[in-house]
Amino acid sequence: MKHILEELERRREVARLGGGTRRIESQHAKGKLTARERLDLLLDEGSFEEFDMFVEHRATDFGMADQRVPGDGVVTGWGTINGRTVFVFSKDFTVFGGSLSSAHAQKIVKVQRQAMKVGAPIIGLFDAGGARIQEGVDSLAGYADIFLENTLASGVIPQISVIMGPCAGGDVYSPAITDFIFMVKDTSYMYVTGPDVVRTVTHEEVSHEELGGYRVHALKSGVADGAFENDLEALTQVRRLVDFLPLSNREKPPVRQSFDEPDRVEPSLDTLVPANPNKPYDMKELILKVVDEADFFEISPDFAKNIVVGFARMDGMPVGIVANQPQVLAGVLDIDASRKAARFVRFCDAFEIPIVTFVDVPGFMPGTRQEQGGLIRHGAKLLFAYAEATVPKVTLITRKAYGGAYDVMSSKHIRGDVNYAWPTAEIAVMGSKGAVEIIFRSEIGNADAIAAREAEYKDRFANPFVAASRGYIDDVIMPHSTRRRIVRTLKNL
Ligand code: HXC
Repeated sequence: MKHILEELERRREVARLGGGTRRIESQHAKGKLTARERLDLLLDEGSFEEFDMFVEHRATDFGMADQRVPGDGVVTGWGTINGRTVFVFSKDFTVFGGSLSSAHAQKIVKVQRQAMKVGAPIIGLFDAGGARIQEGVDSLAGYADIFLENTLASGVIPQISVIMGPCAGGDVYSPAITDFIFMVKDTSYMYVTGPDVVRTVTHEEVSHEELGGYRVHALKSGVADGAFENDLEALTQVRRLVDFLPLSNREKPPVRQSFDEPDRVEPSLDTLVPANPNKPYDMKELILKVVDEADFFEISPDFAKNIVVGFARMDGMPVGIVANQPQVLAGVLDIDASRKAARFVRFCDAFEIPIVTFVDVPGFMPGTRQEQGGLIRHGAKLLFAYAEATVPKVTLITRKAYGGAYDVMSSKHIRGDVNYAWPTAEIAVMGSKGAVEIIFRSEIGNADAIAAREAEYKDRFANPFVAASRGYIDDVIMPHSTRRRIVRTLKNL
C-alpha cells in the first residue's frame, strides 16, 4: 500500500514542477511568480482544490509524443477568498509557454462549467503564448469552446481576468469577454498579433510594451480595468474586488458589518462646490466622504478620468458608484467616458448591485473627433444601460446637469428611483453664456444687455428648484447630510 501512496506523491511532485526548475528560475528572473505561487496568494491559505493535475496533451506531431507534462500548462480548480468559493485557472508559462492545447482547453472549460453549476465567480490568471502551435486547428477549437463558455457565463457569474505575462492571440479574446481585466505593470502585455506580425503586415516597428503594455490598455484603449505594480499587488487587489461582488446573479451582494455611522454628518461637503461654477473640484473627495470607511475600489482609474466608477459600501451594502469628475475635461461625457460607465452600469445591473450616481456634467463633448468616432452610438450605450437597469438607482446632482447629459446620468425620466440635488445644482439645457448667445443673438455686441440676459437666465435655471417644482428632483438636500440621506434611501429600495 505504502508504495501506491508514494507513487501518487511522486506523480504530484512531477506535476507541481511544471516545466522544470530551470524554467521556474527563468520565470522568477523576469519578476513573475509561477502559476501555483499565484494561486497560493489569490486564495485563502490551504483552500485550493485542484482538478486535472494529471491531464496530458494527446498531440504526436513535431515530436510532441515525447514531450508531455502532467497538467499541460494550466493549473485549475477551486478555492476560497475570505471564505467564499471561487473557481480558478492559472496558466503555467513554464510548460510550452502556457500555450493552449486541446487538453488544456478542456481543463479550462471544465472549471468554467463547474463555476456556472455551483454559481461562483471564475478568475483566470493569464501568462501565455496563445494557441499551441504544434496542435493547429485543435487548439483553435479549444479557444472557441472557452469563448462560448465565457459568453454563456456573462451576467450569470462574475468573471475576472488577470494578465500576468504575455497574452497573445486567442488568450486576449477570452479576457475580453469577461467582466474585468487587470494587468501587471511592465511584465504583462496583450495584443491580437505581436510585433513580428505587425512588422510583416504594416511595416511598423513596435515593442511589446508599445503595442500592448499596461500604458496602452489601462490608460488609452480602456481594455484593462487597472494595472498593478507586481503579481502580489494584483492578486491582493483581486481579493479585495471579489469581496464586493455576489457569487452569482442568483445571490445578493455580500453585506458586511460597517463600522461607519450610517448617519455620519460631513460638514466639509457644504463647501466642496466652489462659488465659481467654472472652477473644478475633486469628485472623489465626495465619494470618499460619503461611502463606508472611505473604502472605494475604483475601476479603470487611469482611463477616461472624466468619469469615475467603482465599488464601495453604504452601511455595509455594496454599491456601484458612477460620478462625473469636474477635475478632468470639466466632467464632460465623451466616447471613452460613456463606454466606461455603460459597461459598469450593466455589470451592476446584472449582479443586483445598487447604483449611486453623482452628477456634475456640462454635457456631451462637441467636435469632429468625437462625432467621427461615433459619440452618438457610444453615448447611447450609457443612456441605454441606465434606462434598462432595474437595480435601485439613487442620483445626486451636485452642480451642473446640462443638456442630454442631464437625461443620461440616471435622471428620474429613465427610472432613477430617488433623485436628489444639492442647492448648488444647475439643471438646464446648457450653461447661461451659451444659452444667451443663441436665444439673444441679436444683442451680441451689447455687453450690458448680454450680461443682464445671462443673469436672468442664471436666475431662472442655474438652480435645482425648477426641476424640483416639476418633481424631477425628489428633494434638495444639504450636502453635509448626503451620506445619511443616501443610506436611508437605499434601505427603502
Ligand atoms: C507552443 C510555445 C508557444 C506556442 C511559446 N512557446 N509560445 N509553444 N505554442 N504558441 C514555448 C516556446 O517554444 C518556449 O519553449 C517557451 O514557450 C517560452 O517561449 P519563449 O519564446 O522562449 O519566451 P519569451 O521570449 O518570453 O516569449 C514569449 C512569447 C513568444 C512572446 C509568448 O513565445 C511568442 O511570441 N510565442 C508565440 C505567440 C503566438 O504567435 N502565438 C499564436 C497566436 S495565434 P521552451 O521549450 O524553449 O521553454 C492564436 C490563435 C488563436 O493564438 C485565435 C483564436 C481567436
